[in-house]
Amino acid sequence: MTTETLTQPMELGIFIDGKFENSLSGKTFKVYNPATGEVIANVQEGDREDINRAVMAARKAFGAWSEMPAAGRSILLNKLADLLEAKKEEFAALESLNTGKPMVESLFVDMGLAVDCFRFFASASRLIRGETIPVPSGHFAYTMKEPIGVVGQIIPWNFPLTMAAWKLGPALAAGCTVVLKPAEQTPITILKFAELITEAGIPQGVVNIVPGFGETAGAALVDHEDVDKIAFTGETKTGKLIMERAAKTLKKVSLELGGKAPNIIFEDADLDMAAKTSAWAVFLNQGQACVSGSRLYVQESIYPQFMEKLVDYSKKIRVGNPMEMSTQIGAVSSQEQFDKIMSYIEIGKEEGAKLLTGGNKVGGEFSKGLFIEPTIFEATQKMRINQEEVFGPVLSVVKFKDLNEAVELANDNQYGLASAVWTSNLLTANTMIKKIKAGTVWVNTYNFICHEVPFGGYKQSGIGREMGLQALDLYLETKSVIVDMGANTPNWYGL
Ligand code: NAI
Ligand code: MG
Repeated sequence: MTTETLTQPMELGIFIDGKFENSLSGKTFKVYNPATGEVIANVQEGDREDINRAVMAARKAFGAWSEMPAAGRSILLNKLADLLEAKKEEFAALESLNTGKPMVESLFVDMGLAVDCFRFFASASRLIRGETIPVPSGHFAYTMKEPIGVVGQIIPWNFPLTMAAWKLGPALAAGCTVVLKPAEQTPITILKFAELITEAGIPQGVVNIVPGFGETAGAALVDHEDVDKIAFTGETKTGKLIMERAAKTLKKVSLELGGKAPNIIFEDADLDMAAKTSAWAVFLNQGQACVSGSRLYVQESIYPQFMEKLVDYSKKIRVGNPMEMSTQIGAVSSQEQFDKIMSYIEIGKEEGAKLLTGGNKVGGEFSKGLFIEPTIFEATQKMRINQEEVFGPVLSVVKFKDLNEAVELANDNQYGLASAVWTSNLLTANTMIKKIKAGTVWVNTYNFICHEVPFGGYKQSGIGREMGLQALDLYLETKSVIVDMGANTPNWYGL
């Protein structure tokens, strides 16, 4: 699959109860290739009634799925991982076509993570367990974990299939059934993946996928009386709306939201490695990542030489056709996103930040697509480009004097998802690890994701931890059981 071979837009339906259906309203919407502006798919537009049909299918499937022995669910999840791995080139090409991200990233990051995520949760499903708790004699107490039920999952467009895997993996491992709403910009890979779900032998109705818009299909999922939990990844503003709305039915809610991660370079770091990795910390996926290291703090004493390395390296990054394996940065995902990023570049200039490189739309042969140069600003702490989530290839750099100032600047932000520290001093590293308020602290590395390790946000970056065994808890209830063993121990009724 390449851009050249796709001559006609794909026609894609809503996946309910194991079948592709048309929307009840008859409406469809268009999906674009952001690198060329071409329409690549017409997709059935799900709304309230389609969500309702999907929730009914998920409810019907819940009994048998939740009662299947964990070993059975594990086999099916492993099968799904194998099927995806066998087709990873095809899925990577579709992902690049729809998102504008370079093939090298789609293949090794997006598909690599999605496959491994299903493998991890295939194993994790067999580790679900409660505990026995010592209680007064004559009684026996234990806890058991039960799947929450029907889960609604709403995901963004930056890592479409990977985000679907991060949601489906733990939910299916826990024994929940799912109605998933992909982002309206990027429904293609997950709808194609639905075919693999069937092929793997996962029973119909266990996973339902309803493409559509947030304010309609997404909101209907959040409102639905028979949905037990909502798991959401996206903008912090949307997360707040969802939490408010979910309160009406008191659904369980887990949220993975925005970020503005501080990436902190101390004078005793390996500066070559730190400079190159810091470029990728922010420019990976055109900067459209929740963990993006978009606030760079550099110690004053090494500022000039570090910045020279960073800017030189960033200028050499190859921006180009996402479908070519040699491309390092592709197009940003949508016109809306492009406009937002360009407006932040303008805001940065107006605020008086000094542009060190980039700042423009890429022209020439790429002028039809949504390409933006890797951009670096020298900024100050309170500037909007250093405080707000730009979600694009835009880095703001601020100097600091010493460790205490680094801590203060790093924590002076509403978000707390990820962070990084570069130093060769163990004490510096350890002090920073303790003081930074973020769900992840990387030391002398960045963007290192392992499915064994919990992932999620402090502060306004979210609620709950995806990944690791902790992720299962997002989809499980704890039931406490207390049994009188018939020993006739006196109890407080005096009976
Ligand atoms: P968004 O948060 O609005 O969309 C994410 C998902 O939520 C999509 O599936 C969307 O259809 C759905 N949604 C939107 N409104 C909803 C509602 N009222 N009820 C239920 N579901 C709803 O993000 P959007 O508008 O695509 O992107 C805007 C900005 O958000 C980006 O520029 C970026 O700054 C940030 N963002 C951050 C992400 C992160 O992982 N940190 C991911 C995506 C966006
Ligand atoms: Mg939105």
